[in-house]
Amino acid sequence: MRAGIVKPDFAAAAAMPAFTKADTVGEPLLELRGIRKTFGAVTALDGLDVAVHPGELVTVVGPSGCGKSTLFNIVAGLEEPDVGGTIRYAGRSVLATDLLGQVSFMPQRDLLLPWRTVVDNAILAIEVEGTPRKEARAQAMAMLPQFGLAGFENQYPQQLSGGMRQRVALMRTFLFKRDLMLLDEPFGALDALTRTLMQRWLLDVWEQHKRTVLFITHDVDEAIFLGDRVLAMSARPGKVKLALDVKLERPRRHDLVTDPAFIGLKRQLLDAIEEESLKSFDLQKAPS
Ligand SMILES: Nc1ncnc2c1ncn2[C@@H]1O[C@H](COP(=O)(O)OP(=O)(O)OP(=O)(O)O)[C@@H](O)[C@H]1O
Ligand SMILES: [Mg+2]
Repeated sequence: MRAGIVKPDFAAAAAMPAFTKADTVGEPLLELRGIRKTFGAVTALDGLDVAVHPGELVTVVGPSGCGKSTLFNIVAGLEEPDVGGTIRYAGRSVLATDLLGQVSFMPQRDLLLPWRTVVDNAILAIEVEGTPRKEARAQAMAMLPQFGLAGFENQYPQQLSGGMRQRVALMRTFLFKRDLMLLDEPFGALDALTRTLMQRWLLDVWEQHKRTVLFITHDVDEAIFLGDRVLAMSARPGKVKLALDVKLERPRRHDLVTDPAFIGLKRQLLDAIEEESLKSFDLQKAPS
């Protein structure tokens, strides 16, 4: 057992949606078709198709600037794509703005408020939603051990390590109970060892909660280790260049990265994204 992290009892998880793998053959929870998004002269996304089934953990990799965060901003309802594409969520055709508040979202930067304690940062989203503070705090307190934060409830963000800050931000995202969770490079700022521990911890939590997750990362190993499917995006304008099914058994063992099947997947993925990264590098030299 890792220091500071105890196995959850998941009493709090009982109220959460429980999907089974059988659901992955049915209708997607989220389906984007032909999505395009321009910012002035910059086309961030073009021809983007994504489908995520209930209970899946789908990881997204792609060169810097290819539109990954833009994709998340659309699914979180913060940006509307250009006209022409379609978005379906839970079986209904929707506008991006209809999704505002319907999905839980951990943005690329952790956005912890320095004047709020751990517990009050964790409850921010549900408090804004209208949960009374006392009740919200009780929910957060029950989740603290599972997130390795027991005893730290009254600390402020600046008193925490990077890994702990990430867990507070993740806890906020988990507390905001929605069927779909968007995590934008949640472990991006962590050292390699902490990152590996956090990946295994996230899988433990996800396998218990069975939330549907879209997870952005720059790390190909992380994408395969966590994902049921990896989406590799093209250089800007971004679209899905390769969707790779990861049929490696769960729970994922920590030594999986040396497994020949893992290495085979990694080779396919690296081949797909190497060319895109080079294109993206050229784009940065001469922006369109
Ligand atoms: N609000 C905005 N206004 C103008 N341009 C934007 C805006 N948001 C994103 N862009 C542009 O869209 C493109 C995609 O940006 P985005 O942040 O989605 O990339 P990303 O794939 O998340 O990159 P990174 O891996 O570096 O986080 C970039 O060229 C960026 O400058
Ligand atoms: Mg980004």
